[in-house]
Amino acid sequence: MNLTAKDELLKRLFEANGQPVSGQEIADQFGLSRTAIWKYVKELEVDGYEIGTVRKKGYFLITVPDKVNAANIKKHLNTQTYGQTIHYYETLESTQFIAHDEAQNDARDGTLIISEEQTLGKGRMSRPWNSAYGKGIWMSLIVRPNLAPHQAPQMTLVAAVAVTRAIEEITGIHPDIKWPNDILINGKKVTGILTELQTDPDRVKAIILGIGINVNQFPDDFPVELSTIATSLKIAIGSEVNRAKLIAKVLEFIEQYTKIYETHGFAPIKLLWEGYSNTVGKQIRAVMLNEVLDGTAIGISDEGLLKIRLDDGTIRGIYSADIEI
Ligand code: BTN
Repeated sequence: MNLTAKDELLKRLFEANGQPVSGQEIADQFGLSRTAIWKYVKELEVDGYEIGTVRKKGYFLITVPDKVNAANIKKHLNTQTYGQTIHYYETLESTQFIAHDEAQNDARDGTLIISEEQTLGKGRMSRPWNSAYGKGIWMSLIVRPNLAPHQAPQMTLVAAVAVTRAIEEITGIHPDIKWPNDILINGKKVTGILTELQTDPDRVKAIILGIGINVNQFPDDFPVELSTIATSLKIAIGSEVNRAKLIAKVLEFIEQYTKIYETHGFAPIKLLWEGYSNTVGKQIRAVMLNEVLDGTAIGISDEGLLKIRLDDGTIRGIYSADIEI
């Protein structure tokens, strides 16, 4: 990938670990003046970077803003494709809206749309999703696996397992998954995933994986109606979590598990998912738009549907529902 002079400057500042970086060298590399490089330094300062100057030696990095911008994510990113293209926003209505437009305009597999804040964050079943500035991860990932539309629910479960693994690795805590893809800590929701499709009759063109992770909220940051049902990683572990690092890990696991899924099918993902599930084996109530079912959750099907044994012994597969345990 071709870096711009500003990207190169930032990359060198990071790599130098606080040592000075020569503006002249970058100016020479890009055929620019030293004033042009100085302007990029000023732009980085506007972006929140604190940069010092040593006479005759160059610029050095003092502090990095706590932002989920491309530079901060890429510092930690270890993927081939996912997250290699990032569209970053300070604020927008919903990352899902932009991701749909980008996907329609042929955005490449693994393009990430991310924002510090959403003013119209969307949850499942048309519910609002609280997306306060700088507190969480509000992202939509465009993926283009080779799937038939009926396989799409499996990809939702791939994402749920990947995000859970990433949270485990970064924080050391072990969340549960409530079917299909709510991630819970001590019974409270820390992550929601909204999967939307662009599809032809026989083939999925793009899946938009909308992922919302509550990261650095204090209990008081949640509106009252969420205070008893939502939690954040910071509440769970008692300290701040580096959002950019967690995003990079999420992308890494989604890429890894999508490859496993494409190569070996759904069986290994199903096993992982069942290992994290707090739903299987429980007496549950599945509330759907026009039906309510009571029974025991006995597992997920090979398509990713939740299988329920009803009280009369019949077994039903469910595509989408709110599950009460
Ligand atoms: C749920 O209801 O559990 C799903 C919540 C999904 C929220 C994420 S935040 C990023 C993306 N943009 C949105 O508007 N929604 C999803």
